[in-house]
Amino acid sequence: MMFNERLVNLLPGRMRNQVAQWFEAAELLVEMRDPKVLAAIGPAGLRGLLLQRGKQGVPTLMPAKHQVHFDWQYPHDHEEMATLYRRAKEGQWNGDSLPWHIDVDPLNPEVPLIPPDFIDGEKLASFGVRLDAAEQVNLRYSLAAWMLSQFLHGEQGALFAAAQVTEAVQFFDGKLYGSTQVMDEGRHVEVFHRYIEEKLNKLYQINDNLYVIIDSLMTDSRWDMKFLGMQIMVEGLALGAFGVIYKQTREPLLKELLRNVIQDEARHVHYGVVALREQFRNHITERERAEREDWAFEVALLMRNRFMAFEVYDEWFAHRLTRAQWRDLVSTSPGMSDFRQVMFRRLIPNLREIGLMSPRVVPHYERAGLMQYYDGRSADQITGAQLLADLH
Ligand SMILES: [Fe+2]
Ligand SMILES: [Fe+2]
Repeated sequence: MMFNERLVNLLPGRMRNQVAQWFEAAELLVEMRDPKVLAAIGPAGLRGLLLQRGKQGVPTLMPAKHQVHFDWQYPHDHEEMATLYRRAKEGQWNGDSLPWHIDVDPLNPEVPLIPPDFIDGEKLASFGVRLDAAEQVNLRYSLAAWMLSQFLHGEQGALFAAAQVTEAVQFFDGKLYGSTQVMDEGRHVEVFHRYIEEKLNKLYQINDNLYVIIDSLMTDSRWDMKFLGMQIMVEGLALGAFGVIYKQTREPLLKELLRNVIQDEARHVHYGVVALREQFRNHITERERAEREDWAFEVALLMRNRFMAFEVYDEWFAHRLTRAQWRDLVSTSPGMSDFRQVMFRRLIPNLREIGLMSPRVVPHYERAGLMQYYDGRSADQITGAQLLADLH
């Protein structure tokens, strides 16, 4: 921590948390070494972390500006994208057909949404907070609702980003494929929202760090940055996260929902890899490639170090634990730390494949503990079905 935590701790509870949050935001911006990356993420960082635009209880308006690429010749210009389009048409499914009749009780310990080790009760007790068995189940319910709420908010971002990217991409086969992704993301918003509303009855606000990423890529006018941000980073992380919950949940409706969503997402990330590999290898300068490489690393760090369920902390522990204690708890509890780590399993090989892991940045990923995933299969080498089989 760069800020003086002891000084902050002298402040009264509510003020202390607010000041700690400001320091964390300032730290994030100071840490960015590349001025172009700072210019690309900084304004979104201010809106997300300091102004908390996603939490103001009103619709959030973001200015979007990009070139819409028309082609009146309708070329058949990219075979791999055309194949993805055909597969996407065949893979469509109806959200109404999920087994919605299943009765979900998020407080039933016999059918847990997420496993008991997600939060380390002993560590919590060492900070002076003891939860009884019912409170522990309730806390896990909060955490599961928090995760699914973030999935839902991410899906809303994906829906709009898929629409923007469909307009902006230069390949006509990519546009046809993109139209299927817009439909897929609409369906994902539908099913996650229905699950949260009908079965969990608990929607959390968007996490500030996720907000920053979505804001940053929606307002960036460069199509490949939208692609990188959404198709590779957010979708890649989501794919890893969906996989963890798919594998671990004992709740059959959620499992079936995720099984369907994961197969769509595998196509989306595959498309991102195909489009960006070509773009980054053949159509941009080395300086531009390096900028994207730095941007991707900063976004990865944003999720690695800061995606810590502070919305659950605010609800449960704001007056009982410091933010630093909560960070410690989340970073060391087996379930949460696995979740946050495995999120990167699908992302890192894709960054390698599109050429954003040059020897210059590998040491940074090494320090962040993420190089263990470097040799994994990238999205163009793995189908949705194989991905699911891997998770069994
Ligand atoms: Fe999605
Ligand atoms: Fe997606």
